[in-house]
Amino acid sequence: MRYFPIFLDVEGRDVLIVGGGEKALQKLRLLAKSTARLKVVAEDVCDDIFEFSRTHELTIVRRGFDAGDLDGAAMVFAASDDDTLDRRVAAAAREKGLPINVVDGPAESSFIMPAIVDRDPIVVAIGTEGTAPILAREIKAKIEAWLPAQFGHVARRAQGLRERVLAAISDPVLRRRLWEALLQGTWRNAVLADDTQSAEREFEHQLDAARAGLDAAGSVTLIGCGPGEPDLITLKAQQHLQSADVLVVDRLVNPAILEYARRDAIRINVGKEAEGDSALQEEINRILVREAMKGHRVARLKGGDAFVFGRAAEEMSAVRAAGIPVTVVPGITAAHACAASVGLPVTLRSKVRQFSVITGASKDGPVDADWAALAQPGQAFAIYMGVKRCEYFREKLLSAGAAADTPVVIVENGTLASEHAVATELSLLSRAIADLGIHGPAVIFVGLDWASAGLVRPDRVEVYEGRQGARIERPSALPGMVDGHAR
Ligand SMILES: C[S@@+](CC[C@H](N)C(=O)[O-])C[C@H]1O[C@@H](n2cnc3c(N)ncnc32)[C@H](O)[C@@H]1O
Repeated sequence: MRYFPIFLDVEGRDVLIVGGGEKALQKLRLLAKSTARLKVVAEDVCDDIFEFSRTHELTIVRRGFDAGDLDGAAMVFAASDDDTLDRRVAAAAREKGLPINVVDGPAESSFIMPAIVDRDPIVVAIGTEGTAPILAREIKAKIEAWLPAQFGHVARRAQGLRERVLAAISDPVLRRRLWEALLQGTWRNAVLADDTQSAEREFEHQLDAARAGLDAAGSVTLIGCGPGEPDLITLKAQQHLQSADVLVVDRLVNPAILEYARRDAIRINVGKEAEGDSALQEEINRILVREAMKGHRVARLKGGDAFVFGRAAEEMSAVRAAGIPVTVVPGITAAHACAASVGLPVTLRSKVRQFSVITGASKDGPVDADWAALAQPGQAFAIYMGVKRCEYFREKLLSAGAAADTPVVIVENGTLASEHAVATELSLLSRAIADLGIHGPAVIFVGLDWASAGLVRPDRVEVYEGRQGARIERPSALPGMVDGHAR
C-alpha cells in the first residue's frame, strides 16, 4: 500500500486551491462538503466559481499565487491549467511540509483524492492508487446503492446515545454487543424510518437486556474457513467473524481471512505443525473454555471444514462440558476446493459412485484402511495429510491389487496463488512427490481423472511421468494415459 488512507480533520482550517477554472471548481464542489474554510487564489476566476461562492463560504483572491498564500493552510490543491504554476505551488507546499495535491499530477502530489461515498458522518473513501479509477467508480456506485442515504442519521443518533450507554454498561464487551444489537437491528431500522418512538422503545429494551446480561457466559463457534482463498468462506462465517471478540486461529487459515474480523478482536494463534499433538489440542480446548467463560464470543477458525479432519468433536465436547454453547459453521473442505480448482469432478454417473476421504495422519501409528476395498476399480478417494506417508499408501494400494496406472492427482496449496497440481499414476506417486518437491498442504486424489468425465485436463496441471526432473506441460501420451488424459 503506497498511499495510506487517513481522514484529516479540517474543521475550521484553511484549504487553499490555486486555480480559477473547471479543475478548481471540481475540487471546490468536493471540498464544500467539509467544514474547512476554502480559499481560491487565481488571476482569472471563471463565472461558475463566482456563482458557487454565492451559495458556499469561499474566499476568492484575484491575483497570482504567492508562497505566503500557503501560511496556515491544512492542505493545498494545485488546480490551475498551467503546469508550470502547478509545479511551483507543489514545490512551495512541499517546502513547507504541507499536503499537496496537483490535479492530474500524481508525481507532484503528496496525496491523491479517493472516490468518496458521503453519508456524513459516515464517509467511505475508495482508492486504487491511480491504477484504475474506473474500478473505484464502480465500487463507489455499488456502495452508494447499498448504503441508505439516511445512514449518516443513524450514526449521529448513536452518537447522541453514547453517554447514556457508557453510564449504564461499564463492561466493554457487553457495551459493544449492545451497540451491535442497536446498529444492526430494529433500532437502526426505526431510525432509518424516522420512527423516533419505536427507536426509543427499542433502545430501552436493548439497554435492559444488556444490563441483565452483565455476567452472561460467552459462546464458541467453530468456523470452517475453507482452503485458503479468502472468497471461499461462507456469508455466515463472515458474519460470525465480524462479531467475534476472540479469534482462535489454526495454522492453515489464510491470514487474509482475518480481515473479515474486527480489528480489536483478540487473536490467538494455535497452529499445529505436528500431527495429532494431543497436548496442544488440550491446550486449545482450555483456551476456548477460558475465553468463553470471560463472556467472550469465541470464533475458532479452522482450515477447510471443521468436521473434516478438524478435531472438532474434541473441542465441542470440552466446550459443552463447561456448559458453554457451541455452534458450527461449515466450510469448504480441501478436497472439494482442490477438485473444483482443477476442474476434477469427484463423482461420475455410472463410473465413480463412491468418493471417500482418508487421512494420512494417525496418532496410533500407520493408517489402517480397507485397502482391498479402496483398490477396487471405480473407487475414488482423497488423501489428506498424506504427503509424508505417500509411499506407505502407494505400497498398500498396489499390494491390495490396485492397478499401477490408477490415476492420481496431487493438488498442493489448492486455491492459493501458489497452487501446484500434478497428474501422475499410482505407481509413481511417491517419486512425483519427491522429485517435484511437494511438501503440502496437499490433497492426493486417487481414482479420478478428467478423461473419464469427458473433460480436458487443464494446461496448468503438470504431468509427471517418472523421470527425475521431467516436467512436460502438454504430453501427447503417457504410460497409462490416453490422448494426454489419465485413463
Ligand atoms: C488437519 S487437515 C484439515 C483439513 C480441513 N479441516 C479441511 O476440511 O480441509 C490438513 C490437511 O488438509 C489438506 N489441506 C488443507 N488446505 C489445503 C489446501 N489449500 N490445499 C491442499 N490441501 C489442503 C491437506 O491435506 C492438509 O494436510
